Amino acid sequence: MGKQLIAGNWKLNLTVTEAAALAQALATESEELLHRCDLLVAPGFLALETVRSAVLGTAIQVAAQNAYHEPKGAFTGEVSFAQLRDLGVYWVILGHSERRSVFGEHDELLARKLKGALDCGMLPIFCVGESLEQRESGAASTVVKAQLQAALSDLPSDVAARLVIAYEPVWAIGTGLTASPAQAAEMHALIREELATLWGEASGKSVRLLYGGSVKAANAAELLGQPNVDGVLVGGASLQASEFLAIAAASCETR
Ligand code: PGA
Repeated sequence: MGKQLIAGNWKLNLTVTEAAALAQALATESEELLHRCDLLVAPGFLALETVRSAVLGTAIQVAAQNAYHEPKGAFTGEVSFAQLRDLGVYWVILGHSERRSVFGEHDELLARKLKGALDCGMLPIFCVGESLEQRESGAASTVVKAQLQAALSDLPSDVAARLVIAYEPVWAIGTGLTASPAQAAEMHALIREELATLWGEASGKSVRLLYGGSVKAANAAELLGQPNVDGVLVGGASLQASEFLAIAAASCETR
């Protein structure tokens, strides 16, 4: 089994100065853990360069939280994958539920973004997940399958090894509610099955699947211990070095 990926999504939090301090704390305190798990942080655009410098020489990876698929042109306010690469940032989160619901990013746009990221040689973390209403009405699996199909059906199987998918039930993000380990395992099994149907079993297995939604040190080990859970995407609890590193330590216990 490969190392688990512990990813921190800092969202719209931290000034550049604060981001630098957090990155430095992670860089100095994670050396031992990095032998046993992969760590990634996703600061805001403005802090990318500073954070990248702070973790240089460590194995900590840096991701953007979003980007646009067009390489350049009249797209005011956007950032391209090529610009990220130029900065030495190769990872990007795409399709986060906040991008979908707050900023209206729909399946079709996200499919273009995902393809653009892969074409540009990036390592995307693509997010899927159902709302509370969809779960309560029994539509969770259908929704997640549709999100996957919209994004992946035109992609060749050889992208699998570079792709990470994060299952983040919208009702669990920032709410303190977490999917039960059984709910997470069930959805991860379904995602794995979808990937195998699309690309064959071997390629399906090479996609890393993360769980996200109110992950913290206290619940991380149980979630990370589930089959098909290859890591976690952490929001709130990634803003404190000690809590984030405790989650990473929990991942080590499960492998
Ligand atoms: P949360 O956020 O851990 O604060 O629930 C997770 C996410 O949005 O990726």
